[in-house]
Amino acid sequence: MIQTLTLPRPDDWHLHLRDGAMLAGIAPETARHFARAIIMPNLVPPVVTGAQAQDYRDRIRAVTGQGFTPLMTLYLTETTDPADVVAAHRAGIITAVKLYPAGATTNSASGVRDFDRVRGVLDAMAEAGIPLCTHGEVTDPDVDIFDREAVFIDRVLDPLRRATPQLRVVMEHITTADAVAYVQSAPEGLGATITTHHLVINRNHILVGGIKPHYYCLPVAKRETHRQALVSAATSGDARFFLGTDSAPHSDDAKESACGCAGCFTATNTMSILAQIFDTADALDRLEGFVARHGPGFYQLPVNSESLTLEKTADPVAYPAKIDTGAGPVTVFDPGFALYWRVKDMPAS
Ligand code: NCD
Ligand code: ZN
Repeated sequence: MIQTLTLPRPDDWHLHLRDGAMLAGIAPETARHFARAIIMPNLVPPVVTGAQAQDYRDRIRAVTGQGFTPLMTLYLTETTDPADVVAAHRAGIITAVKLYPAGATTNSASGVRDFDRVRGVLDAMAEAGIPLCTHGEVTDPDVDIFDREAVFIDRVLDPLRRATPQLRVVMEHITTADAVAYVQSAPEGLGATITTHHLVINRNHILVGGIKPHYYCLPVAKRETHRQALVSAATSGDARFFLGTDSAPHSDDAKESACGCAGCFTATNTMSILAQIFDTADALDRLEGFVARHGPGFYQLPVNSESLTLEKTADPVAYPAKIDTGAGPVTVFDPGFALYWRVKDMPAS
């Protein structure tokens, strides 16, 4: 018996597309299924001005064509000009601003050290209704890497939201039950993205039986109870939780290294994995909210009018183990279980 599920075309509310040959190689993997994505600005050098965001958007569109809409973000630094942020938003160039605590993750050296120095930008964003996307980890070397998200909530996020209550905030790629509870406790103005891979792996997947570099990402996967809290939140139907894959390609030589880069590349098989997870949780009817409705609701954008159909298969779905790019091969995330949902061929856009 073939089961099908038709949804509005999904969006990805947290995505790394990189630049140059890597962009050309991996952007089609997202554009094939997703209508829009929030594009992370952590290029080298980062995307810090409206003009740079506009140029980067053009480079993305040159690869994906018109069927995919990149929603651009600016990388918040201590020297960001509030007027540039507001002007870029008014001109429709940017959708949000991204906060990386300095040193938290890949290419985050230009991030924020002293939060008092970005107060003017945050106030201007609150006033103009521009959301702040946060990489929610402290970088204090004294804080254990597995505790960095929970400590960020207490030390940075909660004080920031109290100081600027009108600011709309997205906690990106949450990994803990603490973050789920914090989002659930917020009356409004706070949302959270959840990645595909954090719904699948816990820290044992990275470390037991040999180190698995393709499961290493930031924030690092936590213990199983946290993964279960994320699955519960994603499948709950609560509109504050929505998909942000954080699909973050690195070439295999950069991942399989004595000092391997953080990032899981999930763009290729995300929809199959999510359908499998929601099916297993007996929550297929809630997949539509998570991938296609809650995100537009938070970002105050329309739900996509085109659709995407998933189909349950008798045999496991095949997908490529690697994507070959001009910047080297990129390993596709392996969930470790067979996938029995495939995206039906979509009309070329
Ligand atoms: C991201 C990357 O590679 O740019 N890596 C990751 O592990 N998620 C950076 C980030 O979003 O933290
Ligand atoms: Zn990311």
